[in-house]
Amino acid sequence: MDFTKELDTARQLVENRLTAFFPGSGLAEAMRYSLLAGGKRIRPILTMKFCEAAGGTMEEGLDFGCGIEMLHTYSLIHDDLPCMDNDDLRRGKPTNHIIFGECTAALAGDALQAAAFQTVLSAEGTWRHGGAASKALAAKLLAEAAGLEGMCGGQYWDTLPVKAPRTVEQLTAINDKKTGALLRAACMMGVAASLGHRDVDSVCMEAAQNYATNLGLAFQIQDNLLDATSTTETLGKPVGSDEANHKTTYVTLLGVEECTHQVQAYTAKAKAALERGTWPGGTTFLCTLADSLAERTN
Ligand code: IPE
Ligand code: IPE
Ligand code: MG
Ligand code: MG
Ligand code: MG
Repeated sequence: MDFTKELDTARQLVENRLTAFFPGSGLAEAMRYSLLAGGKRIRPILTMKFCEAAGGTMEEGLDFGCGIEMLHTYSLIHDDLPCMDNDDLRRGKPTNHIIFGECTAALAGDALQAAAFQTVLSAEGTWRHGGAASKALAAKLLAEAAGLEGMCGGQYWDTLPVKAPRTVEQLTAINDKKTGALLRAACMMGVAASLGHRDVDSVCMEAAQNYATNLGLAFQIQDNLLDATSTTETLGKPVGSDEANHKTTYVTLLGVEECTHQVQAYTAKAKAALERGTWPGGTTFLCTLADSLAERTN
């Protein structure tokens, strides 16, 4: 199948499934507002496509992917709060706190984080033994990625005021946590979702981890590039947010040209990582996806 069609099919599966969560008003409305605001759905697409590549089906990866997307959406709601990046536009719409106020936005994020684990642990699928092993492994991967050693730890360093500009090595370590960790979980949870069809394949798991690590570094450099060079209309979030927050980024350290080069280099490493392991479902889509993310405009 043609890549764009395959991407649309995967994205549509995610969109449809996400609408089933959080009916009702009050806090549920605030959660739905951000969750259903659009977004590229890269993380759940990675989960489903890694499940497929590792021998499972996209459907078996779907609820794990929805869990990741909930966790990611929570991280965005909190990231936009005045105490963090203080941004007023996200996914082309006013940010959660602009519509619902800071208190509800904080709670919507908290509740989405809890819902993420609930969704992973209640995932519907056709696995052996109800998928207990897959779910436990996926929840553990998600917890590791979300917390101190992952997204929250990275956000802490990213938002900490610093006197001296950071080095490339320090930035890479921060980006690997704040952005890489969740992408890593997304890919590895996809392999975990395929466990109904075969036992844990540590070579595939490691390959998924390496692919995501490199994809994550490319992804965050591209995010910084777009923040510096795109328009708010195209991006659906404010451009110049990094500069307004006096962030040291790859762009401030290395300039636009070198950043573009680094995005390409990390993308090539991500694709090369998939050459290891046996992938019954093939890896063509995952390679093309990495290339398309390096070219993304939002
Ligand atoms: C934005 O993530 C935050 C970063 C980690 C750079 P995405 O670029 O995946 O945002 P959405 O989900 O498409 O809105
Ligand atoms: C990543 O960094 C955000 C999270 C890990 C939530 P940014 O602050 O650069 O993300 P955007 O640009 O606001 O999406
Ligand atoms: Mg931020
Ligand atoms: Mg931000
Ligand atoms: Mg950014």
